[in-house]
Amino acid sequence: MKKLSAAAHHIEGQPMFKVLARVQEMERQGRDIVHFEIGDPDFDTMPNIVAAACKSLREGETHYTSSMGLHEMRVASCDATAASRRFRPGVEQVLITPGANIIVYYAVRCLVDPGDEVIVPDPCFPTYLSVLRFCGVKPVGVRLREENEFRMNPADIRAAITDRTRLIIINSPQNPTGALMKPHEIDEVFDMAREHDVYLLSDEIYSRMVYDDEHRFYSPSMRDQCRERTIVANGFSKAFAMTGWRLGCAIGPEDVIEKMGLLLETTSSCVPPFIQRAGIEAIRGSQEGVRAMMAEYRTRRDRLVDGLNGLPGVRCLRPGGAFYVFPNITGAGMDEHTFAQVMLEEAGVAVLPGSNFGPGGAGFVRLCYATSLHNIEEGLARMRRRLEHRKGH
Ligand SMILES: Cc1ncc(COP(=O)(O)O)c(C=O)c1O
Repeated sequence: MKKLSAAAHHIEGQPMFKVLARVQEMERQGRDIVHFEIGDPDFDTMPNIVAAACKSLREGETHYTSSMGLHEMRVASCDATAASRRFRPGVEQVLITPGANIIVYYAVRCLVDPGDEVIVPDPCFPTYLSVLRFCGVKPVGVRLREENEFRMNPADIRAAITDRTRLIIINSPQNPTGALMKPHEIDEVFDMAREHDVYLLSDEIYSRMVYDDEHRFYSPSMRDQCRERTIVANGFSKAFAMTGWRLGCAIGPEDVIEKMGLLLETTSSCVPPFIQRAGIEAIRGSQEGVRAMMAEYRTRRDRLVDGLNGLPGVRCLRPGGAFYVFPNITGAGMDEHTFAQVMLEEAGVAVLPGSNFGPGGAGFVRLCYATSLHNIEEGLARMRRRLEHRKGH
């Protein structure tokens, strides 16, 4: 009899894409929805970046290229790392990838065996859980607590380490909470990883999206220069508004990057060269666009946090990075699934239940503020009307 593989039964995907499909169906039926559900910048990619890709296409860069990435792109990534993280990796430590998402798969596949354990934040980016289960690996969630501003607590990580732990995944600034870990906390996690001789995957896709000077970005890669155990996952989707381009970059120990590169070669051959030319321009060109987007995101974050804190039964921290807020909605008298459903179906506001990101997200919802201030005001007004109406009943 024909049947699916055991692994296929464990693929979960990303729940937000299912919500997006439902929202789009409602829109096709003529419903007006305010979107807070998906982490996709509402800005278009900068024209200089688009021009670099077009130029490359016109010049005939339409063929296979090196599986590890164009040499110029890898060097540009080394330069960017030197500027942001104060060390220059060797070119052999850099792998150019089709997005940051797939780096999680490459790393887990190359570093962890079925039956082993990987420590992840709970709640976390759902890809971590889906990849781990697909690979037969046990995710061990470390609860992010509101009273700790959703920062991963090193003591909790220590308590979660067992002799089966092979990898610790950290993500700062974090999806879904926007939390930014403090440098000393990241140092502690690094020391722990060294003490237990496990790998550390640092998902730094939001590294350019940090708001306040007091909250500065810090990476465990600054400790070992990605030579010993740190693998950095980075990508162009968020800060450069390039989600549709599918471009990312992994930096890690040379032997690990070599294997991850072979996996990329096996599954995707290479990243399109014209996409990489766009990436080089994103790194080397003017950063004015990124600065302008960040200024706008900061204004939106502040408005959204203030607005949410004014809603009955809702309280919300002001996160230090990324473009998400993660309000506690327990005071609204609904669980997070009901809250998200009521807001979508009855108020026309799309938010995601926090538990889509792991059990630690129960009692919370995630909103992405990659949408205009006007939409934020409208979304807040709709939520207020719905919550006040409910309270009156
Ligand atoms: C924490 C985190 N890592 C990785 C990704 C994937 O990004 P990419 O578009 O580069 O695959 C996302 C996207 O939402 C994310 O939130």
